[in-house]
Amino acid sequence: MKLGRLNHIGVATPCIAESIVFYRKTMGATDIVEPFDLPEQGVKVCFVNTPTSSGMNGTQIELIEPLGETSAIRSFLEKNPLGGQHHLCYEVEDIAAAREWFERQGKRILGPTRIGAHGTPIFFVHPKDMMGQLTEIMETPKGGGH
Ligand code: CO
Repeated sequence: MKLGRLNHIGVATPCIAESIVFYRKTMGATDIVEPFDLPEQGVKVCFVNTPTSSGMNGTQIELIEPLGETSAIRSFLEKNPLGGQHHLCYEVEDIAAAREWFERQGKRILGPTRIGAHGTPIFFVHPKDMMGQLTEIMETPKGGGH
């Protein structure tokens, strides 16, 4: 497996609407995608796009707010009431090969490979096996877009 682009940093928030105001007013963000629900993952999601000089897609901030009572984000927010950095997401060319790569190293993968917020296959690797970082691995979208 070859490490790809840092696609996004997942940031948990108790309120996406308030976070959008923060990214606009405090951080000067100008490109924020309309929030949407991902019920199967138990989250509401909103992407803040950061620009790059090359005209390529920049790394995104993925705002995630709990959706539903059983959302996995709830326990994170209980420990971090203001929200905060939740996961890092790296792109790979081939999701199946990447999963095998981590499995061969004895890394604990959380659940099945599934379709993520960008419409491409993703899986998560346990933070205790990843230097303390909850790590999302995602297949690069065809055409290199988000
Ligand atoms: Co993510």
